[in-house]
Amino acid sequence: MSPSSTVGSALSVLTTSGETGSRLAFGCDYNPEQWDPAVWAEDIRLMREAGVTIVAINVFGWAQIQPGPDVFDFSGLDAIIGLLHGAGIGINLGTGTASPPPWLSTRHPEILPVDADGIRAWPGGRQAYCPSSPVFRAAAERLATEVATRYGSHPAVQLWHVSNELGCHNAHCYCDVSAGAFRDWLRARYETLDGLNAAWGTAFWSQRYGAWEEVLPPRRTLSAGNPTQALDFARFSSDEVLECYRVEERVLRRLTTVPVTTNFMVTAHIRTQDYWQWAPHMDVIANDHYLDHRLPDPHQELSFAADTTRGLAEGGPWLLMEQATGAVNWQPRNIAKTPGELMRNTFAHVARGADGVCFFQWRASAQGTEKFHSALLPHAGTDSRKWQEVLELSRALGSVRELAGTRVVAEAALIFSWEAWWATDLDSHPSEELRYLEQTHAMYRALWEAGITVDVVKPGADLSGYRLVVVPSLYLVRDAEAKAVTDFVADGGTAVITFFSGIVDEDDRVRLGGYPGAFTTLLGLHVDEFFPLAAGGSVALDDGATGTMWSENIVPGTAEVLVAFEDGPLPGSPAVTRNAFGRGSAWYVGTAVDRPHLSGLLVRAAQEAGVAIPADHADGVESVLRRGPDADYRFYINHTDAARTVGAAGLELLTGAAVDGMELPPGAVRVVKTRREN
Ligand code: GLA
Repeated sequence: MSPSSTVGSALSVLTTSGETGSRLAFGCDYNPEQWDPAVWAEDIRLMREAGVTIVAINVFGWAQIQPGPDVFDFSGLDAIIGLLHGAGIGINLGTGTASPPPWLSTRHPEILPVDADGIRAWPGGRQAYCPSSPVFRAAAERLATEVATRYGSHPAVQLWHVSNELGCHNAHCYCDVSAGAFRDWLRARYETLDGLNAAWGTAFWSQRYGAWEEVLPPRRTLSAGNPTQALDFARFSSDEVLECYRVEERVLRRLTTVPVTTNFMVTAHIRTQDYWQWAPHMDVIANDHYLDHRLPDPHQELSFAADTTRGLAEGGPWLLMEQATGAVNWQPRNIAKTPGELMRNTFAHVARGADGVCFFQWRASAQGTEKFHSALLPHAGTDSRKWQEVLELSRALGSVRELAGTRVVAEAALIFSWEAWWATDLDSHPSEELRYLEQTHAMYRALWEAGITVDVVKPGADLSGYRLVVVPSLYLVRDAEAKAVTDFVADGGTAVITFFSGIVDEDDRVRLGGYPGAFTTLLGLHVDEFFPLAAGGSVALDDGATGTMWSENIVPGTAEVLVAFEDGPLPGSPAVTRNAFGRGSAWYVGTAVDRPHLSGLLVRAAQEAGVAIPADHADGVESVLRRGPDADYRFYINHTDAARTVGAAGLELLTGAAVDGMELPPGAVRVVKTRREN
């Protein structure tokens, strides 16, 4: 099966049912090896009761199924697969390579990863391998071959789950094997040392390389290191982890026709993988999402991650491979979900394009580091609030089963780049407080609060289907990527670009002639100096807004000034501008504007662009539209503890009631179906 073009259709294997026609997949990770086989029959019975349609097994199975270098024992896996198949439950089969067993790292300690200080990690946790290790890759390839050969044509196997969250713990390895692989990667990129020296700017600080052997990964240095070396190492590391996936993917495609995927972690947790590069190799785009309670608004970050995942699926349906029913075990404080939160979280993913919802994990572990992680079946068993919530959630997903295959409607796009993220967050920049993901989240939150749904797209994407494009702090941008934004505006679109965008090219080389070099013509201005604020500082703007962290000296050309700084280092100079360009307009924001004002500004830009903002948009209510062949489905998720009134008319699918406007109780979820005349 060829990847990418089949993204939607591969997922339909999971969302098509003989009994109900379409359905949303509902499932979990299942780790039966942690339990006495006497428990398995009860597991299967309860899975059926909960309406589980798919389970991921053998994700951490390596030590069980290959207990020694030349010993394979599939008896346990055979039994579990047989039980699941007998119960009509589909299988998302792990290749089992996520965590090397102790025998492998004991025999080959050279596979263990090394950090930037040269310290080698010990085994005993998980994922302790160097992504470039040929020994590890060969061992993983062998295991994947055994598993694919044995189960590749089993009728219950619906999906391949390659490894697990690749790059979660081990993306950056600085060992000598990695150093060699890094040099090979650099040779392929630059061909000559002259090319590398030019790209890395090694004329600075006497860093010029005269031989390839002198080139190293960015190991610990006394002073700040070379930024382009660090950026290239980030790119290389992403490519190396992707290659670990591809080694197994090639095996699976050779031996089976079952769709292949792995679980991403977009974007709060795994930051090291450029998933734009990964997506074309997946038959199904799958994401794991956990609420991060260290963030100010975890549910808005959830929405952003879901929209980004849909972007990776090119707007099509995707699979939520893991979330938690309640608390996780790995945050400083593991906050439980309040009543109704599980429903809201799940429906937020579905609203934003998920056609299946799975959990880590089925039964809460009794041992190991994750024993206090929530599950579908908690330690307390079925006599628990959690179990009742799970049953309720499963019923709710059943009542919206016709959503499978429908698509989210968005007239706005947000450009997101992992490369720009890595480059922006390098050291020695104007302000250490400028963090790419924070700026992206700030922009996204402002859109979320204004009720504007966005597609998250990669730099250089075709923007012609959008009315509004927002570009938060896109520090690194290639010429062609900047041109895509310029052409979009010239053709009548509206762009909103924020500070520290368009500053460097792909080699982290400053674009000269005034910032933001890639966008000065489009924006009709240039910036001649940055004026970042002191820690905790703020500036007043003349529309009543407050700016934090950043200010800069904007020199307008053709741009009109919409808002000016009122105090701070640059009183009276422009803070927000708008430039008529071609048939469209380009807005520029030169400071970190407070949330309500940023939202207001985006609403103005959206209105100018003709973006439809729902007339019934209510404060704190997440409202998203999915569109099917002959019906629209409007989601309402009330994240507040007050009732809200919304205007949709049609059939409300969760309650089965015909509605013509309705009150949303505090914390409630509703999905209103409206037939459309085509
Ligand atoms: C990740 C992993 C799972 C489990 C969960 C816990 O998503 O894939 O194996 O560790 O985290 O939250």
